[in-house]
Amino acid sequence: MIRPRPWLDRITPYRPGRQALTAAGSMASNESPIGASPRVAAAVAKAMTGAHHYPDPLATDLRQRLAELHEVSVEHILVGNGSDELIFLLAWAYLAHGGQAVCADPAYRVDEISSQVVDARLTKIPLRNWTHDLQAMADVAADIAYVVNPHNPTGTTLGRQEIESFVARAQSRLVVIDEAYIDFTDDPAATSAIPLARKGKAAVLRTFSKVYGLAGLRIGYLVADPAIIHTLRTVRAPFSVGGLAQTAALAALEDHTHYQAVRRHTVQHRAALTDLFTSAGYDVVPSQANFVLVRTEDEDHLVARLAEHGVSVRPGSALGAPGTVRISVPSRPGMALVEQALATA
Ligand SMILES: Cc1ncc(COP(=O)(O)O)c(C=O)c1O
Repeated sequence: MIRPRPWLDRITPYRPGRQALTAAGSMASNESPIGASPRVAAAVAKAMTGAHHYPDPLATDLRQRLAELHEVSVEHILVGNGSDELIFLLAWAYLAHGGQAVCADPAYRVDEISSQVVDARLTKIPLRNWTHDLQAMADVAADIAYVVNPHNPTGTTLGRQEIESFVARAQSRLVVIDEAYIDFTDDPAATSAIPLARKGKAAVLRTFSKVYGLAGLRIGYLVADPAIIHTLRTVRAPFSVGGLAQTAALAALEDHTHYQAVRRHTVQHRAALTDLFTSAGYDVVPSQANFVLVRTEDEDHLVARLAEHGVSVRPGSALGAPGTVRISVPSRPGMALVEQALATA
């Protein structure tokens, strides 16, 4: 029987969050509790008539729109099958066979797994005060340094200035800043590192899975130096991003009112969720994302207490953060379920 390459035995496979019985109780995967703009459904339905054609491998229209939005050229943008695909492409291109990566501990799991898949060395630097220890990360001479801003699973955020001086100081050749949750910060435009990604050493990942509610369609993008984009294009499968996903992303970008509504809901309910847990006696890590990390001495007890009320969350030990539970910001009915669960001793 054929055997996989020996280093693959060391990988602990990614464990997805458990689906709750109802949409309201789904708080394990940081999805949008509101869903996509209604314009997306209309655009996708219309695009179905072209589903027998292969998609545009370059996602030309979407890249054009994103280039305008971020004030970069289209050559700075690569669209992927979720930002997870782009993380794997980076690992194949820059880490395979003896490359080195540095990330926080706990890290976003896909950063870890993609490095392990290509047999790279990975240095994990423990968080300090729940946030990246940029000082220690800067001293590691890696090929790629991963910074997740806001971080998953903590929700803590670094300012543009901090990232900028990290990029300047870092011994690593490339700094990848994953901004999956940037839209939920106080000031996304001022926090984002995209202005740093126009050349050289910084690259920024974005996704349509969170604020735009398109997690099921799988679409994200990378903003980076055109030389990096060119390399990744040679590595990727040509039709990895479906045409319906491209259409959906374009439609989502057009509905700014929906974007603002999701952002407002998230910020308000994140504060309310934090208050609920704080009032119930828990410490909550201050979050700028669409989830909160609650500290508890007994993860299993809190997870079970919420599950009794139909709420599915992520135990911190599954995310490399034992002694915590991560809860996604829910819909209004979801908030009521959490409230009921915490009201019962
Ligand atoms: C930090 C981070 N990056 C990327 C992703 C995945 O994004 P996508 O759905 O675009 O693959 C997630 C999803 O939870 C995430 O937490």
